[in-house]
Amino acid sequence: MQIDGKQYLSVWFENERVKMIDQNKLPFEFRIAEYSNYLEICDAIREMTVRGAPAIGAAGAYAIALAAQNAPEEKFRAYLRTARDELIATRPTAIDLRNGVNYVYEQTIKFIPDYRHSRQVAILAAREFAKKSIDDCYQIGKIGSEIVPQGARILTHCNAGALATVDWGTALAVIRIAHQQNKDIFVYVDETRPRFQGARLTAFELEQEGIPHTIITDSASGFYFWKKEIDLVITGADRICLNGDIANKIGTYEKAVLAKEHKVPFYVAAPFSTFDLTTKEGADIPIEIRDEDEIKRINGTYLANPGSPALNPSFDITPAKLITGIITPKGIFKPKDAARQVQI
Ligand code: MRU
Repeated sequence: MQIDGKQYLSVWFENERVKMIDQNKLPFEFRIAEYSNYLEICDAIREMTVRGAPAIGAAGAYAIALAAQNAPEEKFRAYLRTARDELIATRPTAIDLRNGVNYVYEQTIKFIPDYRHSRQVAILAAREFAKKSIDDCYQIGKIGSEIVPQGARILTHCNAGALATVDWGTALAVIRIAHQQNKDIFVYVDETRPRFQGARLTAFELEQEGIPHTIITDSASGFYFWKKEIDLVITGADRICLNGDIANKIGTYEKAVLAKEHKVPFYVAAPFSTFDLTTKEGADIPIEIRDEDEIKRINGTYLANPGSPALNPSFDITPAKLITGIITPKGIFKPKDAARQVQI
């Protein structure tokens, strides 16, 4: 992605360190965070310095690679197993994290007891996982841009952009490429309470690319559907089940219901790392519940009644029947058929 004219990935490996754009600071400050052990990356994922399903998948992959560099030879396998389990536990909903961590772990342990080789393979495997994510997202953008009509007014939720992936984005890859094709699009950006991924990150990415957009509150999209000012909805996903149900940022389900009511197509864009072939349906997906303080306070200042409790589910489930199609790197599929493409 371009930030102030310079090219960046959201997360990468350089000089024995994992580096990432600090997404908690954007758009007010541009900071690169650097880590030299996997425990620091566990914290970065939990605190959402890096966030977005494919981006935490890549961060997890690099974190295991880092763990392999630091693991003492006498307990190499046990150290890696602990690192794997701790990384996967940091955020329970996005399956890309488990997929990224497990991929590098499996490649690495194959070469035990040749620890030198294991360590080299760990880095190569993490780089390969991240590169595949970039390629997949680019394909999603190219394929998905075909369903974007000229002059489309598109609603998106949360940040499914280059920041949420390694590069390009998922929903935003489609939007980026449609814009590059001069389709004269306009984007409604849900602010995405409570962490404002839409208002901070999606709006920032769109501004950087010169893509016309406006931020709206999460509750405003119904009004714009009603005014017939939304032609298309595109979101990302944190997990896609065998039956085509998806988990995505809290509020996504409401958008899908509104889209159905207003006969507006609702698309989900995701790379193969977001598919979970072991989970049958949405009801089986663990939903991350985050701290109530994210709702009640901003930068330490209360904006809600301090004595009241608050519920903060980070994701919700959108059933397959509300999804027009899933945009994957291999094509656009009906939700019920999408998971089958991963196995091919
Ligand atoms: O809690 P977050 O910010 O990690 O949630 C991110 C989302 O819900 C995104 O929509 C999803 O990961 C898809 S990103 C390409």
